[in-house]
Amino acid sequence: MDKNLSQIPWEAFRRMDETPDEDFYQEPRFVTHIDEAAIAAVTQLYREYLPPNGTILDLMSSWVSHLPEDVAYRRVVGLGMNHEELAANPRLDAYIVHNLNCNPQLPFADAEFDGATICVSIDYLTQPVAVMHDLGRVLVSGAPLVITFSNRCFPTKAIALWLMLDDNSRQELVRRYLIEAGNWRDIEMLDRSPGSSNDPLYAVIGRSRGVQSFIR
Ligand SMILES: C[S@@+](CC[C@H](N)C(=O)[O-])C[C@H]1O[C@@H](n2cnc3c(N)ncnc32)[C@H](O)[C@@H]1O
Repeated sequence: MDKNLSQIPWEAFRRMDETPDEDFYQEPRFVTHIDEAAIAAVTQLYREYLPPNGTILDLMSSWVSHLPEDVAYRRVVGLGMNHEELAANPRLDAYIVHNLNCNPQLPFADAEFDGATICVSIDYLTQPVAVMHDLGRVLVSGAPLVITFSNRCFPTKAIALWLMLDDNSRQELVRRYLIEAGNWRDIEMLDRSPGSSNDPLYAVIGRSRGVQSFIR
């Protein structure tokens, strides 16, 4: 994945199923998308990177956020597609239903959050660089974004490019999203696949350059 994203044909960011995401996510799915050991690896990353007592944004959220149960956060806000799933999520203090593929601008204030997460969902974004750019705006400078993914997905809703790549190239692709968004620093790529798990677990982590990076 050494290509600049602008060199990649736009069709690569289309999905097999281009019907409205509202239709696909209309019914709640009270399931987990990775196994217990992979979820534990996600939780461990959150423990390491997210500031306790901070205000956290769980982007592309559902009925579970995988945050460590013994860590308190000042406020956790979820954004996702299904009202019932989000309403059932015990970690969320507030939530909003918002389609990022229709509007990649986040309905939050500048520097509102101290950390953000995207778990097993980055593959569904059709305008990922725009979303990453706006995510940098809503985080305070230096705040972490923890993006995790495995090797499973809803194939009809994942972008075509994701389906063409292997796991390592997917990690490179997500790193490139952050680089091209232009307001991220200290980007790390981690393989936290648990030996005991059938599901591998990869992470791409960056730190926001903050809203100042918008003032040119
Ligand atoms: C595989 S689920 C993962 C849910 C949760 N993050 C987890 O770890 O279990 C994919 C999530 O992406 C969200 N999502 C998919 N398309 C979206 C879109 N266009 N805008 C916002 N969220 C979206 C859905 O609401 C769904 O909760």
